[in-house]
Amino acid sequence: MPEPAGTNVSIAINDRPAFPVPTGQSLLAALKAHTIFVPSACGGRGVCGLCRVKVLAGAGPCTPREEALLSEADRLAGMHLACQVTVERDLRISIPNDFFSAREYKAEVIALRDLTPDIREITLQLRSPPVMDFKAGQYIQLRIPPYEQLRRTIYRAYSMASPPSARDRLELEVRQVLNGAGTTYLFKHLPLNTHVVFNGPYGEFYLRESNRAITLIAGGSGMAPMKAMLCAMQERKIRRNVRYFFGARARRDLFLMDEMQALEQSLPDFRFIPALSKPLPEDQWTGETGLITEVLDRHLEDQYPGEAYLCGSPAMIQACVKVLQKKGVAKDRIFYDTFA
Ligand SMILES: Cc1cc2nc3c(=O)[nH]c(=O)nc-3n(C[C@H](O)[C@H](O)[C@H](O)COP(=O)(O)OP(=O)(O)OC[C@H]3O[C@@H](n4cnc5c(N)ncnc54)[C@H](O)[C@@H]3O)c2cc1C
Ligand code: FES
Repeated sequence: MPEPAGTNVSIAINDRPAFPVPTGQSLLAALKAHTIFVPSACGGRGVCGLCRVKVLAGAGPCTPREEALLSEADRLAGMHLACQVTVERDLRISIPNDFFSAREYKAEVIALRDLTPDIREITLQLRSPPVMDFKAGQYIQLRIPPYEQLRRTIYRAYSMASPPSARDRLELEVRQVLNGAGTTYLFKHLPLNTHVVFNGPYGEFYLRESNRAITLIAGGSGMAPMKAMLCAMQERKIRRNVRYFFGARARRDLFLMDEMQALEQSLPDFRFIPALSKPLPEDQWTGETGLITEVLDRHLEDQYPGEAYLCGSPAMIQACVKVLQKKGVAKDRIFYDTFA
């Protein structure tokens, strides 16, 4: 029997002591109130599928949203979406230990730079705590406060574009989404010197330690984690073979070209391969053209022995994974973050 709303039940996590929480709230909110930050890019709407936790005891059956986002194997293993579980009775859950190191940070916006007509670089100076440790490729969740038509606080995920060596200053690259709740705020209501709040770091999307060749594939603001990884490789003097395929529509959508050229000079075996899907006549483009999948198909050898890291829209990732598999890249050598 569920306890009435407002009474206290307990949550036990991994092998840690249980703590009391009031009933009636989501598991995601209950954990956040105890400064345990579970990734949640959609802010608890049951859309992103990031807030997965294993519930060993105390959850009801999966909701339709959970059924849509969790595989049958996951559901049988007890996986749930923390935002869809209502705390009604004592709960016992299991989460990756990484979640305990995610914290809340306060930062100041110290620079804003338009990189393309719809991509903006936002530089954050950490104020409290003053530094954050993370892996290149990981992301944070930025708090978007209520404004105009947005009535409630939401969180949106953004990947660090700066390397982990810059522990006190983070660069984000944000693409404006038409009528997007978070990006409208970031483009129209975030002047310089604004103080922001975020939590993190999160994510399993980071460079694996090996000597294998690396293929990076991104489009738009998917550049962010790739730039962080490349800068980290440069700093750590990593000598692996790296090919970076970057898809854009026209020349005006390309950015950080000078930075990529500088990395080509400083990394021992790196090539940046930008490709335009709809070059304009005035672009006078002589580089690669076509969809990024076509370019990848042309360049990547059969039985490619390397690893692949992808970042971008769900459609782009799905299409590129197909090409990679056709080229013989096993699933366990393909890593991606879907920006959705
Ligand atoms: C792990 C992770 C890392 C991310 N890192 C970055 C990053 O570094 N830079 C970045 O710009 N974004 C990144 N995103 C995406 C980001 O979190 C937001 O989803 C995005 O900024 C849109 O938020 P919004 O509130 O403006 O749009 P919403 O209000 O959430 O959406 C508005 C409408 O636009 C659609 N929509 C949402 N996102 C997109 C999209 N990307 N393209 C087209 N349509 C969309 C929605 O379906 C909806 O109909 C990341 C997402 C994840 C999960
Ligand atoms: S927070 Fe996005 S599905 Fe739960």
